[in-house]
Amino acid sequence: MTAMISSRVKTLRGTAKVPGDKSISHRALILGALAVGETHIVGLLESEDVLGTQAAVNAFGAQAGPEAARQADGTWRVVGLGVGGLREPSDVLDMGNSGTAVRLLMGVAATHPFTTTFSGDASLSARPMERVMGPLRQMGAQFTARTGGCLPITVTGTADPVPIVYELPVASAQVKTAVLLAGLNTPGKTTVIEPEPTRDHTERMLVHFGAEVVVEEGPDTGKHITLSGQPELTAKEIFVPGDISSAAFPMVAGLLVPGSAVTLSGVGVNPLRTGLIDTLREMGAAIRLENERLQGGEPVADIAVQTSALQGITVPPSRAPSMIDEYPVLAVAAACATGVTRLQGLAELRVKESDRLAAMAKGLTDCGVTVEETQDTLTIHGLGGAGPVPGGATIHANLDHRIAMAFLVLGMVAENPVTIDDGATMDTSFPGFQDLMNGLGAAISSSQS
Ligand code: S3P
Repeated sequence: MTAMISSRVKTLRGTAKVPGDKSISHRALILGALAVGETHIVGLLESEDVLGTQAAVNAFGAQAGPEAARQADGTWRVVGLGVGGLREPSDVLDMGNSGTAVRLLMGVAATHPFTTTFSGDASLSARPMERVMGPLRQMGAQFTARTGGCLPITVTGTADPVPIVYELPVASAQVKTAVLLAGLNTPGKTTVIEPEPTRDHTERMLVHFGAEVVVEEGPDTGKHITLSGQPELTAKEIFVPGDISSAAFPMVAGLLVPGSAVTLSGVGVNPLRTGLIDTLREMGAAIRLENERLQGGEPVADIAVQTSALQGITVPPSRAPSMIDEYPVLAVAAACATGVTRLQGLAELRVKESDRLAAMAKGLTDCGVTVEETQDTLTIHGLGGAGPVPGGATIHANLDHRIAMAFLVLGMVAENPVTIDDGATMDTSFPGFQDLMNGLGAAISSSQS
């Protein structure tokens, strides 16, 4: 394990480019594999999670690398086999830490008539998979899972898939995407009803590859997303913007560390992902979006932040889907704000890479912040004008990259350094986090243990 220590710094300054969007990278590799021809991906996130999807795509018989497919200029090439054209993997697919990878690929495997077994690390093996198996069973797939519906899981895909209309019981882009990907190799129309809007990268990319996707507002049940099955997807060029969920860490750090001015260039600002920007602005943050443009069907901008005095607010449950991965770093911002911040509607945080609600409550308490935790809320009493957060704790990352990065941000403004026990976990989404932050002026050091 590599422990990391983050110490208080005077100021953060400069421009940085965060790595590519994780959600879009997974989808680009998977849809590239299901298209006919050679897809080229610019800006793919080369992190452990995404390289796991790339290895899985290769195991399904498409060529998505490894090195051979990474071009000298850093772009990636995927030779697709067409919808329904994947082949049975010869071995278990180890999806590491990635819930997105395994849930999306379970959707793909469900409507290919062969057997696929997925495994994962300790964190992924504890996460709920019934949420995807339920609708995929209705489409005809069969599953053998460990008690509680956990990995390892074997999927027996169906040769005669049935299209379904499925209303999401939880706001989850992964479940929506799993059903739509299963719907690709299913005759007829597959519909997902989404009571609360979640990230729509799948819908945008399906249309980009040539599928027919109709999105309608339902009478009172939310969005109806209907995919016409068995389209011919045509290989395309995909541009992956910077990941706003990664940009969130230097953004919040730039707001908290005194005298800072930080710009993150080329970040995806899909409106279904920008809940953190809205929330921080409500808290008083100076955040500007510059050079707003559309790239590859996704809105992109440079995000400029300046040190700001933040005020506590109430963040309603309706905000959660648009910033679901940003609560750990928002909790750090709240700890440094003046007054009380109430985060509501957080039940889903309990089933992320770790129980993030419990991890933030414990870590902040250990760092000297007063918090109250219920089943789905976190109330944080910001120290604001009362001086810096004491810090000085060692945080257990528990295989959760975002917990690790959030507490390293806290260390930048805490009175005493904050240590995380394992920094390696950050490679799942943000390779180079330490160098990028130190390049802006942070003081993060690592020690092998
Ligand atoms: C993701 C959806 C979200 C998010 C995850 C990525 C995606 O998960 O937390 O990091 O790429 O679809 P849920 O669908 O479980 O909310």
